[in-house]
Amino acid sequence: MVAGTWRAGPSCIAPTVANLLVTAAKSENAPTTPALAASLCQSCHGAHGEGSPGAAIPRLAGQSAAYLEKQLKDYAAGTRDNTIMSQFAKRLSSPELASLAAYYASLNSPILPAARGGTASAQSRGHLLAHLADESHRVEACDNCHGPDGNGATRTAPYLAGQSSQYLTAALNAWKQGTRKNDDGKLMQSVVDRLDANDIAAIAAYFSNLD
Ligand code: HEC
Ligand code: HEC
Repeated sequence: MVAGTWRAGPSCIAPTVANLLVTAAKSENAPTTPALAASLCQSCHGAHGEGSPGAAIPRLAGQSAAYLEKQLKDYAAGTRDNTIMSQFAKRLSSPELASLAAYYASLNSPILPAARGGTASAQSRGHLLAHLADESHRVEACDNCHGPDGNGATRTAPYLAGQSSQYLTAALNAWKQGTRKNDDGKLMQSVVDRLDANDIAAIAAYFSNLD
């Protein structure tokens, strides 16, 4: 995709999304999930769910199906706010959302070099926050919920390892600015409230350089 296309206002994007969905629905048989993903999602999330780091579009490959499905339902319900994603999620059926989540969860694709960011010193500060927490800030260690090295193994929270530094920064800032608030029990809100801009840069640097 052309970086930044999705940032265009709703009036530009709406017909595009509608046309894509009509085209997908017109095919003789209901499209298979990979075909649906190729026609609707791949231009932004990549052919193999690797994401578009430059446009802060998240990597989906190998993320847990439960997490991806929750996000799609949150976009559909409007509890997670993003104009583009909401339009897709609202127009697709619940079974289609569940199959797309399972499909992306099943993919295993290489991490794009452009996803990696940050200096060595930012990475080591991020490592500290991720593993040990920071007593002075009273930040809870990310790995308590996101699994060892942010690998998502605990399934209570998404993987962070290998997610792009651009998207990690955008997601943490969205909580910081109050534009993302779909975390049950405010689990993330209470963490992010204690992070400053340097911490966010350090965390994005650290996790984006893991595999
Ligand atoms: C025009 C670009 C674009 C298209 C097409 C698109 N997405 Fe997205 N997607 C985004 C952006 C940007 C975000 C991050 C939005 C935000 O900050 O909430 C996102 C976020 C997501 C997330 C949340 C991931 C996370 O880690 O929280 C999921 C799941 C997702 N998209 C699935 C899909 C699926 C499935 C399709 C196809 C039906 C699709 N997207 C089509 C741009 C797009
Ligand atoms: C108490 C548990 C908990 C702790 C501790 C925690 N998280 Fe989370 N985190 C979650 C949950 C649950 C979600 C998914 C929320 C949702 O449903 O959108 C999440 C989501 C995220 C996301 C969004 C990922 C995406 O794909 O959109 C980022 C980024 C993130 N956490 C970073 C961190 C960082 C960095 C730390 C440590 C400083 C941390 N988290 C500590 C529970 C936690």
